[in-house]
Amino acid sequence: MSQRIIYCDHNSTTRTDPRVADVMHQAAVEVFGNPSSGHRFGQQARALLDKSRSQIAAYIGAKPSEIILTGTGSESDNLAIFGSLYAPDATGRHLLTVATEHHAITHSADWAQRHGFEVTILPVDSRGHVDPDDFARALTPTTRLASVMLANNEVGTIHPIAQLATIARERGVLFHTDAVQAMGKIPVNVDDLKVDLLSLAAPQEAARVGAMAKDLRYRLAHQLDDIEFFGDPDNCLPNTVGVGFGGVDGESLAIALDLKCICVSTGSACMTGAAMPSHVLQAMGVSERYLRGSIRFSFGRENVPTDSAAIADTVIAEVQRLRKMSPVRV
Ligand SMILES: Cc1ncc(COP(=O)(O)O)c(C=O)c1O
Repeated sequence: MSQRIIYCDHNSTTRTDPRVADVMHQAAVEVFGNPSSGHRFGQQARALLDKSRSQIAAYIGAKPSEIILTGTGSESDNLAIFGSLYAPDATGRHLLTVATEHHAITHSADWAQRHGFEVTILPVDSRGHVDPDDFARALTPTTRLASVMLANNEVGTIHPIAQLATIARERGVLFHTDAVQAMGKIPVNVDDLKVDLLSLAAPQEAARVGAMAKDLRYRLAHQLDDIEFFGDPDNCLPNTVGVGFGGVDGESLAIALDLKCICVSTGSACMTGAAMPSHVLQAMGVSERYLRGSIRFSFGRENVPTDSAAIADTVIAEVQRLRKMSPVRV
């Protein structure tokens, strides 16, 4: 019997639920009309779009007319940033954001800066939190938009968005939150969060995957020394375990785990190809030792309860083997 492959990298991306794929296929081949066309095919497509907008809106407490469908989460983040900065009625030219945002935000902020906008990037503490007082102080009369993610994709830290958005609103500043990683894992409601703009991507289940992540965390903490968990354990996405293994190279460990049929990520997915240290962990002040040996486990729909023990056993064996074979001395 072939060994089951355990995919534990759901924060990078997730397999499409076959039921969703069926509905998408059916829509593509049957409801192909241009929703702006007046004939029956167009009307059929318009009705389906309206229904989708209503369902998404109901899920997050918004109005259907407030939903803009984009191709990806990055596209939605880009639209929020550039749509706000370049809106015809925009007066301020200042953008405020945070060092641990996804690259869809930080790269947009870099671009804005190169094109004449003023940009402030707020630092975070060792758990990945931004200080609300720092946030309030950084708002200026010319701030057009503040953008702070709801939950971080690498370490899972959840930001107090309602508190930050209220501060921004009192100062007349638009507030955007990137909820791409939070959707389906923690409650997301635009009124509770008090945001003007929110980016999201497709849902998954929370309680079941949370139990697996908790179990993995417990096993690693009790059976391995010289490790550091990243993020805020009291305020974190339930499915995410970011951890640094001292004396180990994270890339080598991820490859060793892949050979044992366990798929995980080192830092964020987009960093892997570039082999650069994670900007999120750097902003949190993680020491070189644990930065070098960082791995992200992120559970999702296809994981089963026995996965956490299977992952823990393999990780522990591989960390011990790598430490003996080629210890990393930082
Ligand atoms: C927090 C966050 N924002 C934005 C994105 C970008 O989404 P997409 O890959 O759909 O462009 C991701 C992707 O993982 C993410 O985790």
